[in-house]
Amino acid sequence: MQVRIIDHPLIQHKLSLIRDIRTGTKEFRELLEEIAMLMAYEITRNLPLEETVIETPVAQCRCKVLCGKKLGVVPILRAGLGMVSGVIRLIPAAKVGHIGVYRDPMTLKPVEYYCKLPTDVAEREIVIIDPMLATGGSAAAAIDMIKARGGRSIKLMCLVAAPEGVLHVNARHPDVEIYTASVDERLNDHGYIVPGLGDAGDRIFGTK
Ligand code: PRP
Ligand code: URA
Repeated sequence: MQVRIIDHPLIQHKLSLIRDIRTGTKEFRELLEEIAMLMAYEITRNLPLEETVIETPVAQCRCKVLCGKKLGVVPILRAGLGMVSGVIRLIPAAKVGHIGVYRDPMTLKPVEYYCKLPTDVAEREIVIIDPMLATGGSAAAAIDMIKARGGRSIKLMCLVAAPEGVLHVNARHPDVEIYTASVDERLNDHGYIVPGLGDAGDRIFGTK
């Protein structure tokens, strides 16, 4: 399995709170935003820097600023929306695309319904965000959609993954790095991650 687990103590603590069945919609949203920001901090730690000269009130100094490819953040609707604000608070210059994919509840196969990406998607480092990677069907379909529009440099950031989903994305898209806070035990018969956190979209938007 090719996956990077982000095990920062703050993320792991907040993940435990968000899993809790007693955590209501308001707190769930707040925690998801915070975790998304912390995960974005971790996955951007190797962004390239270049030197520049800055004039402080006291003296000139050589400083470092980001260089290289600009970022694009692409949430998978709906649940990925819950992570957008946390990521763009940290990376305000990122452009935001949207991909609409839902999982058919009977077949568990992804159904695509929307795609709007930055026009310069081929020039950007794309980070797909979705709290849940279960069978991996939705994430693999989203990656297909981005690649079909020219995207080449793609990362996938999810909160909780199932081993089945990681293996599926690894097999279909070996070039895409997956970042997650946890690889859980397995999927249940309904395709839910065990122990997981339930239906992320419903918990974010209060629809169940
Ligand atoms: C959830 C989740 C992922 C998908 C993961 O979305 O946010 O997109 O399921 O499952 P998979 O890995 O088996 O494809 P869902 O289909 O429930 O849609 P929603 O966010 O619109 O509720
Ligand atoms: N989608 C969710 O929201 N939760 C799961 O456990 C699996 C898919």
